[in-house]
Amino acid sequence: MKALVAAAFGPLEQLRVHDVPDPSPGPGQVQVRVQAAALNPIDVKLVTGELRAMFPVTHPCVPGVDATGVVAAVGEGVTRFAAGDEVIAYAGAASGMIAEYALVGEGPELVHRPRALSPAHAAALPMAAMTAHCVLAAAALEPGDSALVLGATGGVGALVVQQAAELGVRVLATAAPADTAYIRALGAHETIDHTAVDTLSAARRLHPGGLDVVVDLINAGPALASPAGLVRPGGRLVSTLYGPAEVDGVAPVYVRMEASTGDLHRQAERVAAGRMSIEVAATYPFDEAPQAMRDLAEGQYTRGKIVITF
Ligand SMILES: NC(=O)c1ccc[n+]([C@@H]2O[C@H](COP(=O)([O-])OP(=O)(O)OC[C@H]3O[C@@H](n4cnc5c(N)ncnc54)[C@H](OP(=O)(O)O)[C@@H]3O)[C@@H](O)[C@H]2O)c1
Repeated sequence: MKALVAAAFGPLEQLRVHDVPDPSPGPGQVQVRVQAAALNPIDVKLVTGELRAMFPVTHPCVPGVDATGVVAAVGEGVTRFAAGDEVIAYAGAASGMIAEYALVGEGPELVHRPRALSPAHAAALPMAAMTAHCVLAAAALEPGDSALVLGATGGVGALVVQQAAELGVRVLATAAPADTAYIRALGAHETIDHTAVDTLSAARRLHPGGLDVVVDLINAGPALASPAGLVRPGGRLVSTLYGPAEVDGVAPVYVRMEASTGDLHRQAERVAAGRMSIEVAATYPFDEAPQAMRDLAEGQYTRGKIVITF
């Protein structure tokens, strides 16, 4: 089969589409013929080696954690899936999805694809949706709360904004001018153009008493000190990146996405029913996957997901 391959840790320029052996499903695994795969920031970090201390990678490696496709074969002991089933799959850091065939375990990260969901939108969903679910659980928002979402127009942020707004939270979102109408249509009440003004000063002006929750999808390490200053006393700072145990008297809640049973299926059904939306910014044919990865890393699109089609 053909796959996108990184030979070693290093720059994205090394990525090539070439032939590798077909992956064969072991016990509890499902082999998926991939129809579409989505890109995530973690793909770039795994290829370059930025996350090598956290996630070991065996080379040559095939990137890609999110995909949708058709079950081609199942390993011993698989009971919920059979050849021909249309599925949505998340591979975790083991990756391997930007390939004609991929393996995934029969667990909460493998679900049947709702009929009404297009392959591009289905592929875009797993990591962003399951992370948004974990972020919202950590944020413990209540109706009437105020929340600032930094990185609101990205894959995770747009899903956090929609679900927080649906809960009755007053959402303040960062968005470049071209994305302001988009994020407001998803439920944001107020926006800050992070490309033109200092986000933190603007947020402080709008919410001088601080916000109940700040969801930070942008800052890592000591940089979390600035958003921490926007949290009202007793409020929460939630981050998908990592940093110190305490910043400015606030103990950030660091989210590491974990798939939970039923979550991906529930979110896929919501998108299929038109009750939540996931934006596909661009689709690239498989042989242009190396360019797609470079475009992701360079921030070519300010909102939504990049999807590779097969
Ligand atoms: N811990 C976990 O388990 C976990 C899981 C998933 C994701 N993550 C991490 O969470 C982060 C977000 O993931 P994602 O998939 O949503 O990323 P994404 O789709 O690439 O979105 C990033 C968004 O941030 C915006 N942005 C960039 N710089 C900004 C700034 N200074 N102020 C405001 N907005 C800014 C971008 O818009 P513009 O181009 O307009 O700036 C873009 O919309 C990534 O770093 C990812 O690695 C962690």
